[in-house]
Amino acid sequence: MSDKKRVTVSTLMEMKRGQQKISMLTAYDFSFAQQVDGVGTDVVLVGDSLGMVIQGKETTIPVTMDEMVYHTQAVGRGLKRALLLADLPFMSYATPDEGLRNAGRLMKEGGAQMVKLEGGADQVGTVELLVSRNIPVCAHLGLQPQSVHRLGGYKVQGREKETAQQMIADAVALEQAGASMLVLECVPSMLAAEITAALQIPVIGIGAGVGCDGQVLVLYDMLGITGGQVPRFVKNFMEESGSVAEALSAYVSAVQQKQFPTEAESFS
Ligand code: KIV
Repeated sequence: MSDKKRVTVSTLMEMKRGQQKISMLTAYDFSFAQQVDGVGTDVVLVGDSLGMVIQGKETTIPVTMDEMVYHTQAVGRGLKRALLLADLPFMSYATPDEGLRNAGRLMKEGGAQMVKLEGGADQVGTVELLVSRNIPVCAHLGLQPQSVHRLGGYKVQGREKETAQQMIADAVALEQAGASMLVLECVPSMLAAEITAALQIPVIGIGAGVGCDGQVLVLYDMLGITGGQVPRFVKNFMEESGSVAEALSAYVSAVQQKQFPTEAESFS
């Protein structure tokens, strides 16, 4: 595929405007990145979930910048079309200046085309600074795994009136600060749909219902590789597929056709 067809920030904005659903998956290495890209996934996220699914750690918190750069480089080599998004790990953006230096590393050394950070209105200054230096930012609201110890576990967020209103206000503030995309994790479907309608930028859900502009899943979860209990929002696409490529393709198609997620993989 030629370079001209690469997915860019503009492509994603056009997809939102044209009501075309955006497919996103995580990847952590070259070979899986090639497979994920090959089936037409729009965005590939090098998530700090690698701490859990690659390194076997209990949370994403121990993941380092050097590890993120290493995996982003490997994934980047496997992509021809998808936009390469990489996570800023825990404490790598504790101040706006640290965020700028580390986001710069993900782009310069890792080859990322956009960086993702967790947080609401408290991250507005960092988002503004990164965007002012031409670093596209994806924000992440709802369940923020880097805050798992403060939240007291992996729980659905925004079920109460005040927390829902706070999330809407955070989403608007992040868009106004210049964020190019927003991930909503474990958010009631109706709230996620309201936020999606309120924003001009694409909103990608994970456990946030079918009303978002697109969907993301952790690759190993949707391939059924992750051991133990997986979150309710996960669907194992290998169950009805004969190969990894077929499962990935089924996921992209289900997202595009609004067949994933169903009520079974959503929260009210
Ligand atoms: O780290 C990750 O994989 C993520 C997704 C769950 C959105 O942030």
